[in-house]
Amino acid sequence: MRKITIEGVGSYLPERIMTNDDLAKIVDTSDEWIRTRTGICERHLAAEGETCSDLAVRAAQRALADAGLEPNDIDLLIVATVTPDHIMPSAAVLIQAKLGLRSVPSFDVNAACSGFLYALETARSLLRNERYRHALVIGSEKLSSIVNWEDRSTCVLFGDGAGAFVLGNGSSDLPVLVDGLAGADGLAANLLYVPAGGSAQPASKETVEDRLHTVTMNGKELFKAAVRHMAEATEEILKRNGLTTEDIAWFVPHQANIRIVQALAQQLNVPMECFVCNIEHTGNSSAASIPIAFAQAKAEGRFQKGDRIVLVAFGAGLTWAATLVLW
Ligand code: UT7
Repeated sequence: MRKITIEGVGSYLPERIMTNDDLAKIVDTSDEWIRTRTGICERHLAAEGETCSDLAVRAAQRALADAGLEPNDIDLLIVATVTPDHIMPSAAVLIQAKLGLRSVPSFDVNAACSGFLYALETARSLLRNERYRHALVIGSEKLSSIVNWEDRSTCVLFGDGAGAFVLGNGSSDLPVLVDGLAGADGLAANLLYVPAGGSAQPASKETVEDRLHTVTMNGKELFKAAVRHMAEATEEILKRNGLTTEDIAWFVPHQANIRIVQALAQQLNVPMECFVCNIEHTGNSSAASIPIAFAQAKAEGRFQKGDRIVLVAFGAGLTWAATLVLW
């Protein structure tokens, strides 16, 4: 079977930073509450007019440069997002045009915070087909556009940003995507969703007045489900590859809440030092969170050749996913 490799990675965080103290000026919250309950100190927010596709393009350009490739080399584009520029067409086609890619298959994946790993697994499967040599996989979110800035229980959590991987099916000494799995439980879809704006409840004066175009969340139930599903997904991918947690140098989890990562670490009996965490400076950027954390860790030189790395995600849907990388 063809080896699917990671040829380059990149990330982009918009310039504007909103601190916890900034938030405390607009909702009844405090730096102390946000820090201790979530681990977040600040988050980046896109500028007005800066869209999901704009963020994605910046991250993609960095990933292409890291891979030493040109837009012309890309045969497939997959974008994970829940905040595309428009409901139709996809963010992917706008990104394809902005990057100047050839007329390659370009589409979005919506699996919320698990979206990037869903997209990686989709690309990994398609790259086994010799028609595709290089895939660009992006997670990009402008969550600030779907947050209710009057709801302190959600608005403190989210941030904007993008991360990208360039995958290939060629050279053997590059990091390898060894395995990937994904799961879903749509019976729990009501734990985290945006009620209006889709076909169930099209936009109207009332939906706008009632703020039904913003994130509605049951944080407590999600917290428990996140720990359970991320632990199970990690255990499953290790088991089916004949590995234990001791074989894993790094875990790169979805960045939703530092307490979720701590509970996951405890459940897996792995020290927190093995977890890549950047939530302090990014907040939860949904589908962008794992590729941003991964690209930053790579840039810091944290991964060594031969390291096994587990990426693990959980999100609205419910959805979950895990990916095993050999660096
Ligand atoms: O990306 C995947 C999807 N998202 C998640 O995975 C989120 C998972 N859930 C969580 O991270 C946590 O449940 C939250 C951070 C959302 C909430 O933390 P919690 O420890 O579960 O707090 P809570 O909802 O039980 O609220 C505790 C108290 C409440 O006050 P009372 O009822 O005890 O008086 C809230 O009203 O904290 C209050 N509260 C706040 N206080 C200050 C809620 N939000 C805030 C806030 N500032 N921002």
